[in-house]
Order: sequence, then C-alpha cells, then structure tokens
Amino acid sequence: MDDIIIVNNLSKNFKSRGKSDTLAVKNVSFCLKRGETLGIVGESGSGKSTVAKLITGLLKPSDGEVRIYDNAERLLSQKKALEFYSQIQMVFQNPAESFNPRKTIGYGIGEGLRNRGYSPAATATVVAELLEKVGLEPSIARKYPHQVSVGQCQRAAIARALAVKPKILVCDEATSALDVTVQKQIIELLDELRKSEDLSIIFICHNLALVQSFCDRVLVLYDGEVVEEGEPDRIINNPKAEYTKVLVDSIL
Ligand SMILES: Nc1ncnc2c1ncn2[C@@H]1O[C@H](COP(=O)(O)OP(=O)(O)O)[C@@H](O)[C@H]1O
Ligand SMILES: [Mg+2]
Repeated sequence: MDDIIIVNNLSKNFKSRGKSDTLAVKNVSFCLKRGETLGIVGESGSGKSTVAKLITGLLKPSDGEVRIYDNAERLLSQKKALEFYSQIQMVFQNPAESFNPRKTIGYGIGEGLRNRGYSPAATATVVAELLEKVGLEPSIARKYPHQVSVGQCQRAAIARALAVKPKILVCDEATSALDVTVQKQIIELLDELRKSEDLSIIFICHNLALVQSFCDRVLVLYDGEVVEEGEPDRIINNPKAEYTKVLVDSIL
C-alpha cells in the first residue's frame, strides 16, 4: 500500500489573547496509506480534532506540513493539494450538525452536487443512489433531520460526505454519540464503503476497544503528541507507552 498523506512534524499552537498559548499538537508525524483505516485514539483534549482539522485544511499548522500524494506517489503541487482538499470529507460526532434543520435530508445530501452544477433531476438520482449505498430508504430524502433516528442521520451524513466522491474520510468521533448496536452498524458500513468506494479512512475515537476490530493501524495521542503507533492487536496486547497502558487497562 502506498501513502496518500504524509504528515511531517506537525504542530498547532492556539494563541488566545490574555491567556497562555495552547500547544494542541506537538511535532506529530504519521502517514495514511491508500485504502487503509487509521485509528487515532486519545483522551478528550489530546489534540485529535485539531489533527483532523489540520489534515482537512480547516486549520493551518503552526509548524510542519501535510503532504498529499497522487496515485503515482508523486507529491501534489500546492495548487493541486488545495483542489484535493475537496476530496477529504469529514464525518462528525453529531450528525444533525451536518444538516440544516429547516431543510430536508435529501436537500442536504445534494448540496455538494448542486454546487457542482448538477440539475435538480440529476441531483435527485444521485441522492437516491447515495441513500442506497448507506443502507437508507429513498423516502428518507423527504424527511427533516429531527424526523430520523441519530443512526439514520449519521448514515445520511456519510452519504452527504460521499456525494463529492472523496478519497479520504476523516471520521471525528463519528460513532461516539451512538448506542453500541448502532455503533457497530456504522463501523460495518464504513468498512464496506472503504472497499466499494476506494476510500482511506482516519477514524478518530476515544475508545481503543472500538478501533481494535476496525483499524489497520492506530496512533495513540497524549497531550498533543503521538506516544505510540502500531497494529491494534499489538498495542492492546503489548502496549509500550505508559499512557497506552492506562488506556488498555481501562478497556479490560
Ligand atoms: N480553536 C481553539 N482555540 C484555542 N484552543 C483550542 C482550540 N481548539 C482546540 N483547542 C485546545 O487544544 C487542545 C486539543 O483540543 P482537541 O484537538 O479538540 O482535542 P480532542 O479532539 O482530542 O478532544 C485542547 O486543550 C483544546 O482546549
Ligand atoms: Mg475532538
């Protein structure tokens, strides 16, 4: 598997007036391989969401770089890298936030398509296909976010993310608001989509047990730093960093 993203010595310092700075991400390096699921685990405040925003271009790093590579393992130019950001989509913890409460789910899923010049009829066709891909009935398109369950809404949010044919999905605690059964279903869906849609996935989660079955590799973040990296089974059976041992103890 070749690398699609390489992150080198990434740091993010939040400056706030009157208060001391927060070094949220410190010298973080890792790669994302094409077609893999990379887990990022760590407690609340460890810098997971900041890393996600740096990768998706929502935040600018204070230091370090995010390099993006094409199929032929060539580094993309700055201009191409900017274009590529539209192919990195995020899925968040609270799916309702991905939708306007006053618009239908179908309208929300179709937004990216209309922005790309799709006609209303073409948009409706693709929205129906996307709903099918995420295991929802076509009639969901006519419902409003408050009329569907949180699990259905998360599936719809994934459909919305898929609309622009992304290469990378960054799921930031995307299953954390769901009960265990629905959590499992969404993980299975993401795993199927990874294969069928040719995706690479970054799966951010504070639950090490959840990433075990699902991720190829895991990074453990603690206080903005990567303290451990490896295959989930190895990390759980033989954690090396002190903080990882604490994490592992908490799930046993
Ligand atoms: N926009 C911001 N301004 C100032 N500090 C921030 C901002 N975003 C995050 N932080 C701080 O950075 C640290 C890491 O936050 P975050 O990346 O959200 O962690 P996580 O997602 O692991 O819970 C925290 O101390 C948080 O308070
Ligand atoms: Mg977070």
